[in-house]
Amino acid sequence: MQNDHFLKACRREEVEYTPVWLMRQAGRYMPEYMEIRNKYDFLTMCKTPELAAEVTLQPVNRLGVDAAILFADILLPLEGMGIDLAFAKNEGPVISNPVRTGEDVENIRILDAEEATPYVMEAIRLIRRELDGRAPLIGFSGAPFTIASYIIEGGGSMEYKNCKKMMWQAPEIWDALMEKISEVLLRYLKAQIKAGAQAVQMFDSWVGALSPDDYETYVLPYSKYVLSGLKGEGVPVIHFANNASSMLELVVQAGGDVIGVDWRINLDEAWKRIGYDRAIQGNLDPFTLYAPPQLIAEKVKRILQMAGNRPGHIFNLGHGINKETPVENVIALVEAVHEYSRR
Ligand code: CP3
Repeated sequence: MQNDHFLKACRREEVEYTPVWLMRQAGRYMPEYMEIRNKYDFLTMCKTPELAAEVTLQPVNRLGVDAAILFADILLPLEGMGIDLAFAKNEGPVISNPVRTGEDVENIRILDAEEATPYVMEAIRLIRRELDGRAPLIGFSGAPFTIASYIIEGGGSMEYKNCKKMMWQAPEIWDALMEKISEVLLRYLKAQIKAGAQAVQMFDSWVGALSPDDYETYVLPYSKYVLSGLKGEGVPVIHFANNASSMLELVVQAGGDVIGVDWRINLDEAWKRIGYDRAIQGNLDPFTLYAPPQLIAEKVKRILQMAGNRPGHIFNLGHGINKETPVENVIALVEAVHEYSRR
């Protein structure tokens, strides 16, 4: 491995500089991505290992980030469960048969991940060969709540009304659904590790919709099931919970070697609450990348200062990169992190 700064930081080992990668680093803000995307729809790209591999490598080559993240989507395991998935133009994910009743939950299948998503595992094997040690490869999944929110609402949501209705009106159906989802996600991540993912991240993008109390009762046990099930697998596990600074301690309780935090909390305070026995990942506001390079550099310095050269900080955004972000600002960000953090 020529660049193992990311993996070292995940294990809280000393590094020469703070490693950086960006959530959603492969995507529409990059002209080379758009060149491929103009020819194929998004799901076709995910399901064609050669295309997924090519797009995964683009940010490594162009930005000089310290890790690659598999080009895929958190919703890919849905199809194997018997749930229809489509990406409508400008609308994001759409599920035409959302899960609302006990019968719907009973009908959900639990397949092995190699059978349900063979193209993901094939992409991982191909990417590892093409990366050839230039950077480690991160695999990922959604977290049980975030996946449940899409399955129940039928797409993205603002209020999570149907989700909360199920949680509170039919807790036994909620539990049965969360159990099935957790099992699928654990198998999916284990298969990714077996195929060659050198770290995995579980994205709980929408969990901030819940109160800490409800998180603890209705979600934490399932996130914990997935995260503790990965303990013997020998790779670092990142647990990213977006908009969850009101319940960081609970997020830590659910598990993860690295805790990903958004920008709504200062990194020093977040790390203190998480505990220094975990690594931390974050936490620049993605829209900072619209600011002039001088200001980006200042904000980078500020976050590095808050991390205080303590081993175990992985620089990242607080959430995914926005699709209109200027590429040159992203390059400037990566350079600034490397330059200002050099020990
Ligand atoms: O980080 C990476 O570069 C790896 C690829 C990746 C994608 N989706 C590609 C993608 C990752 C890690 C994801 C995770 C994902 N997918 C999440 C969790 C991360 C987060 O942002 O919280 C979520 C919630 C999804 C579900 C999803 N997929 C949505 C809401 C959308 C539409 C978003 C939009 O901006 O239109 C997608 C589509 C998607 N996934 C795109 C990409 C590059 C855009 C597809 C396109 O080219 O049109």
